[in-house]
Amino acid sequence: MSAERWPVLVTRRLPPVVMEALKARCQLDAWEADGAIPRNELLRRLPGKLGAITLLTEKVDAEFLDAGRDLRIVANYAVGFDNIDVVECTRRGVLASNTPEVLTETTADLAWTLLTAAARRIAEGDRLLRARTPWIWGPEMMLGQDIHHKTLGIVGFGRIGRAVARRAHGFGMRVMYHDVTRAPEDVERELSADFRTFDELLAEADFISIHVALTPRTRHLFGAEQFRRMKPTAVLVNTSRGPVVDEAALAAALRAGDIFAAGLDVFENEPEVHPDLLDLDNVVVIPHLGSATVETRNAMGFLAVQNLIAALDGRRPPTLINPEVWYRRST
Ligand code: DGY
Repeated sequence: MSAERWPVLVTRRLPPVVMEALKARCQLDAWEADGAIPRNELLRRLPGKLGAITLLTEKVDAEFLDAGRDLRIVANYAVGFDNIDVVECTRRGVLASNTPEVLTETTADLAWTLLTAAARRIAEGDRLLRARTPWIWGPEMMLGQDIHHKTLGIVGFGRIGRAVARRAHGFGMRVMYHDVTRAPEDVERELSADFRTFDELLAEADFISIHVALTPRTRHLFGAEQFRRMKPTAVLVNTSRGPVVDEAALAAALRAGDIFAAGLDVFENEPEVHPDLLDLDNVVVIPHLGSATVETRNAMGFLAVQNLIAALDGRRPPTLINPEVWYRRST
């Protein structure tokens, strides 16, 4: 007997191998045009769907769930799920899943790419040459900050934060971290990472890389006050979520020389980038590329599909955000 093919909405075209895997088990309704699916179109397509694969560009809220009243699972194609009202999903008995682990190393690589680019003024140098600006090697031309043997401060010491810490040892760096809960001793030992209060970390670190989830507590965790506490030579890297940093305050701090530079993959009001940042040379900005490699985007897709199909087949999805819905169903 052939397996059932489930009616499913996919809100954006996923990598081709992932779309093929989906088609094998689903009657697929996929938004194929470029860009995010318009909200009214999304709401129009949701009724009758038993599953949906969503992106961080779609708000999964009460309105979404009202339209998707037949949904059994919302499988997010991202590790972050601040686009999902998890409480509302749970209240309605809708499973929600994300894609952790498969993107950890790739995102850690990108945090380091931004760190080195910002410290060594790579994007600025590239812009200089592309503008055909006359230049000659000089002892004081475009001086950056050393990275090796400096202090790296990690804010948010989950999977990605730890992967960033691991890479620091190749640079002979000292590593410190801050998180709401202290990591187990064996993790601290393995990564030679010392716990610090947030304020201590701000004052001591030469490089600060942010790896917290976006919650009401972390919104604008970095603002004018925090920039003032950092070293004037410090470099800030954000590959987590834009609203964790107050962009207007960051632009002012970069302009005033309160900190040396920043590397940003994420923005407060994506896809907008604060115009003041775009006017500055000491900030490297890239368009939310943390997990953007062929291998990782495929892996994220396969994990989202695995979650979706498991839920529809009546098996426990591997990476649930609200496992209580599953327990409630199976008791
Ligand atoms: C995530 O997974 O949360 C990223 O921001 C998108 O790759």
